[in-house]
Amino acid sequence: MTTTPLPGHPHFALRDGELFAEHVRLQDLARDHGTPLFVYSKGAMLAALAAYQRGFAGRKAQICYAMKANSSLGVLQVFAQAGCGFDIVSGGELERALAAGAKGGDIIFSGVGKTRAEMRRALEIGIGCFNVESEAELEVLSEVAVAAGQVAPVSIRVNPDVDPKTHPYISTGLKGNKFGVAHERTVHAYQRAASLPGLKVVGIDCHIGSQITEDEPYLDAMDRVLDLVQAVEAAGIALHHIDFGGGLGINYNGDQPPAADALWAKLFAKLDARGFGDRQFMIEPGRSLIGNAGVCLTEVLYLKPGEQKNFCVVDAAMNDLPRPAMYQAYHGIVPLSRGGDQPQTYDVVGPVCESGDWIGRDRALAVKAGDLLAVLSAGAYCMSMASNYNTRGRAAEVLVDGARTYLIRERETAADQMRLERPAF
Ligand code: LLP
Repeated sequence: MTTTPLPGHPHFALRDGELFAEHVRLQDLARDHGTPLFVYSKGAMLAALAAYQRGFAGRKAQICYAMKANSSLGVLQVFAQAGCGFDIVSGGELERALAAGAKGGDIIFSGVGKTRAEMRRALEIGIGCFNVESEAELEVLSEVAVAAGQVAPVSIRVNPDVDPKTHPYISTGLKGNKFGVAHERTVHAYQRAASLPGLKVVGIDCHIGSQITEDEPYLDAMDRVLDLVQAVEAAGIALHHIDFGGGLGINYNGDQPPAADALWAKLFAKLDARGFGDRQFMIEPGRSLIGNAGVCLTEVLYLKPGEQKNFCVVDAAMNDLPRPAMYQAYHGIVPLSRGGDQPQTYDVVGPVCESGDWIGRDRALAVKAGDLLAVLSAGAYCMSMASNYNTRGRAAEVLVDGARTYLIRERETAADQMRLERPAF
């Protein structure tokens, strides 16, 4: 048997020309569960996590999986059981984290627009930390905590004004972004936080963007954050932890982001040099833990040759895989079994009634109607961003663990979609 690893996708490989996730043939999953179907490898998730764990060996650190990347319960359970905490951005994510077995103290709450109700609920479950994003939010959170007879643990998310060199929609640490408290306002904001009766300052937080593929923005941001730690502590406010956010990229199309352990070796060299190496650290990685642990299986419905373009119409669409339409993002697309035909160049498109509904452009594929394809790097920001546009039910999801498979989400039916609606007449 010949085994060829799938580039960028540990635990996925071609065996004798057929694509497998761990010990499971993907054709079999498509046959058993239909398409579109998301398939995740538990081994790949744990391998991605292990790179961070190696990077933090011997340090005081907590890895809080940023569940916005993929918040399906089965996925959360894998990370919870592996010892991760969770970074959440809504009351909904909070309930999911609890449902997956997380304890309140292992959850941190990020986001620019937390509501009072969300704050109350987070206090009730004993949240580990609120990452506060504005001075106005400090005031409201203190009020809510006082009313609840509690003290809210807070970090302030600072905006280090560093260019993460990624897509403008997913860079978050620049001055023009809506996120975090400006560098110049940071000490003032901490002084205010320390003076408010409902708050207890516990840390500092930053997150500069997503799909970052270079070391440099991280090293720059770390310097800026450490400058702020010094300034805040010089003002007499102790910071127990430093949360350095997420953002590490993955290989979508030959991208070569640093490995998590290599990146953290460099960051710890800086931290040690500046005397901060023995602090408590937190990080909030999302994409780098799950992105290349998942693929989306889809069936070719029609081939549609044209004068300017050939189209390969598949049964997955922008409602399942929104990243190409939203960010012109690239996802690899490969057949589940290697065919003998001559490849042709296609735009791979879905059935949704929008020209923006494309999954890949100008791809060389040897395919015919009925063939199955895998859309790669589909573990992160696909299912969690999926919609019901065109009243398309969301896809099913399967988790693979060795030779075992778990259906972690059933395919959504039209009835599921209409459940909360009431006829007006
Ligand atoms: N922490 C905070 C505060 C965040 O805003 C994010 C992502 C993360 C952690 C996790 O970042 P990651 O490690 O996944 O890069 N939908 C976009 C990505 C949006 C990222 C938003 N924030 C995409 O599909 O590329």
